[in-house]
Amino acid sequence: MELSTAPPTAGPTSDLDPFADAFLVDPFPALEELRETGPVVYLPRYDVWAVARHQDVHAVLRDHRRFSSAAGVGLGDLTTDAYSWRRPSLILEVDPPTHTAHRAVVAKTMSPRAMQTFQEVFDVEAAALADRLVALGRFDAVADLAEPFPSVVFPRALGAEGDTRDALLAYGSLSFNAIGPANRHLEAALERARGVPELIAEKCRREALRPGSIGIALHDAAAAAGLTEDQATQLVRSLFSAGVDTTVSGLAFAVLAFARHREQWQLVRDDPSLARNAFDEVVRHQSPVTGFFRTTTTEVVWDDVVIPARRKVMVLFAGANRDPRHWDRPEDFDVRRRTAGNLGYGAGAHVCAGMTIARMEGEALIRALAARVDSWHLEGDPEPRLNNSLRGLSRLPVRVRSQ
Ligand code: HEM
Repeated sequence: MELSTAPPTAGPTSDLDPFADAFLVDPFPALEELRETGPVVYLPRYDVWAVARHQDVHAVLRDHRRFSSAAGVGLGDLTTDAYSWRRPSLILEVDPPTHTAHRAVVAKTMSPRAMQTFQEVFDVEAAALADRLVALGRFDAVADLAEPFPSVVFPRALGAEGDTRDALLAYGSLSFNAIGPANRHLEAALERARGVPELIAEKCRREALRPGSIGIALHDAAAAAGLTEDQATQLVRSLFSAGVDTTVSGLAFAVLAFARHREQWQLVRDDPSLARNAFDEVVRHQSPVTGFFRTTTTEVVWDDVVIPARRKVMVLFAGANRDPRHWDRPEDFDVRRRTAGNLGYGAGAHVCAGMTIARMEGEALIRALAARVDSWHLEGDPEPRLNNSLRGLSRLPVRVRSQ
């Protein structure tokens, strides 16, 4: 779909640059400003509109007829050079009814039995990892704790053979950087991921996946639904690309939150059944995925602002998750908070397809650590990892105290 170049119509505007380094490190002050500026705000710098209030983010995400994903969920349109490194996703970048059919294939593989398999693997691996970390005492909570689970344990459960860690991390970084403009972050990610898309595509083929794995189940479900082998391979790729860096980021932010709020860690230690909610609260509070885009399919009047057809709208999950119109004390990290309404996983037709898996990973690790770690101590400043749409840390030196 060609994007239109019609001039914007009246409504509040902001000179915010949602891809400037300051915003990528800490978007929350600017998001507050954006929420106060209006329900929908024009950003002339990129010639797009933005929504950051909970009510509007939720409504746009649920309105796929007027706010489409088919021109891509990034700033650019899918035909631009920035996207030439891969074909459009068959799940993220399509609208119903095609989306519904593809999503059903993915959902079929996430059966209760498959989830049980994931759970068992995660619990065993989490206990082993937690033992290793406690024995180390001091470590980097990104490289040693947050990365191994999503980039080694999860892909293995999905059926990937061999060492996929570096390739998957490079691929995830590229996928999320490609949401933004062709800036230095995207250029660096393209450079780092040279040859990686081909390698990942190879790993997602039926013959490359371990027999009996979730990946093979996805190929079977796709074939039963009449999809081609090539389409099935692309759907497996979507799980690999969406499911790694996001969870790494969530786990790293969890450790940071517990190091900064010791009383919250004590609450989880006292009642480990809080582990699941605690991870959801991390995803709400930090919103690893800051914001994606939609494209208007028709002229849309949103709170008296006219958005012409075929224009990009930035949907800021991170803005919604700190909106005081929806949340009580939104800035506070509170593991006992009711997290219903958390938009960190999106909402509507495209709500995260791996949410259950992410939650299981988070819960398994937090539980295993809560059984062993008395308290977390920062051994230096956390280093942010700059990415155009995925907030994260590149380094988090910590020390753990344990009995
Ligand atoms: C804390 C971890 C995670 C976060 C914060 C997260 C966040 C998100 C968000 C915000 C979306 C919505 C995109 C949109 O509306 O355009 C999404 C979609 C998606 N996620 Fe996740 N995700 C996480 C983990 C995972 C995992 C572990 C997997 C794979 C097992 C996964 C697979 C997907 C897929 C396939 C989609 C596309 C769904 C669709 O378009 O129908 N995600 N995720």
